[in-house]
Amino acid sequence: MSFRSGRHFLQIPGPTNVPDRVLRAIDRPTIDHRGPEFAQLGLEVLDGLRHVFRTDGPVVVYPSSGTGAWEAALVNTLSPGDRVLAFETGHFATLWRAMAERLGLEVVWVAGDWRHGADPERAEAILREDAAIAAVMVVHNETSTGVTSRVPEIRDAIDAAGHDALLLVDTISSLGSIDYRHDEWGVDVTVGGSQKGLMLPPGLGFNALSDKALAAARQARLPKSYFGWEEMLSANKEGFFPYTPATNLLYGLAEAIDMLHEEGLARVFARHDRHAEAVRRAVRAWGLEVLCRDAKYYSSSLTAVLMPAGHNADALRNAALESFDVSLGTGLSKVAGKVFRIGHLGDTNDLTIIATLAGVEMALALANVPHKAAGVAAAMAYFTEKAKAGRG
Ligand SMILES: Cc1ncc(COP(=O)(O)O)c(C=O)c1O
Repeated sequence: MSFRSGRHFLQIPGPTNVPDRVLRAIDRPTIDHRGPEFAQLGLEVLDGLRHVFRTDGPVVVYPSSGTGAWEAALVNTLSPGDRVLAFETGHFATLWRAMAERLGLEVVWVAGDWRHGADPERAEAILREDAAIAAVMVVHNETSTGVTSRVPEIRDAIDAAGHDALLLVDTISSLGSIDYRHDEWGVDVTVGGSQKGLMLPPGLGFNALSDKALAAARQARLPKSYFGWEEMLSANKEGFFPYTPATNLLYGLAEAIDMLHEEGLARVFARHDRHAEAVRRAVRAWGLEVLCRDAKYYSSSLTAVLMPAGHNADALRNAALESFDVSLGTGLSKVAGKVFRIGHLGDTNDLTIIATLAGVEMALALANVPHKAAGVAAAMAYFTEKAKAGRG
């Protein structure tokens, strides 16, 4: 492809734009991962991550994508034949289910329409009937649909059923974007990844662990080696890793954690909420439909938009990329061609969102999708109103 001036708009729901500060932090010489300088870096990031996950417990960092961190959560806590409860919120929940089955777990699967979050009432009813369920798996933010499940309600459902199951939560596209509290919400394993709200390139996977998860790990019999927590936690005490860590990504991680703290997590979440609301207003003003059906499940990190019947979302995405250098998320599996996704997470500001929406609005015209050219104006009006009111 020939050179394109200006900055590409990477508005997929992850990987997200990597800020210059993080790129510069990564661009340093790799150091001895068994030396004293590394130990300092290791201790700094392991401690900093606790604040991001809102936990006093340990956080494990793998040189892996999020899928590796999913696997780590399962193999460290469960045994062959264990039953787990999972919810069909979309493509990623379905993939996690498939992984659990491949690992020899039995999945009790609550079917869903990809437009709502995990249902706490169903969870409670199933748990009341089935004392043997060993874990409940929830994808906090379904990246394929723009649906955010309400983790505290699932926690309450487990408690209301008087059940002992572990709670395993995927925060790959919510961590650092949407309010999340590992300890307060009684989560046992939180799964995360580097490439979304943490503003890093892909390549790191995380597990935050509760005491109950650590106790379960002592009994768990699923085979594990690379992903075993025990060796990791033992080396982590001194800031080291049991194998070669992704040193340069850890430089970036330290910088990204600093940036999140400088802005303040509450402001980071408020910014994501504001951007999400502006995007939804734009979608409605175009006369299009947000895939997420119930406002209580709206995602602040991405919005999936339904195409009018007879129009393919990928034709629109191609027009946006070719003509305006903006990448939008594709529809995955069941919703392929039917939705496109606007990522509004990570290193974004109001004008990034306005420019993205302008790219979509122009692409809608180019792809001959029936719409009203009023989305950008609606988002601008909302941002103006918020700025007048002093943001938030
Ligand atoms: C919610 C969610 N879970 C899991 C994954 C899988 O992570 P990875 O692709 O980094 O392996 C993704 C990736 O986008 C995701 O969005």
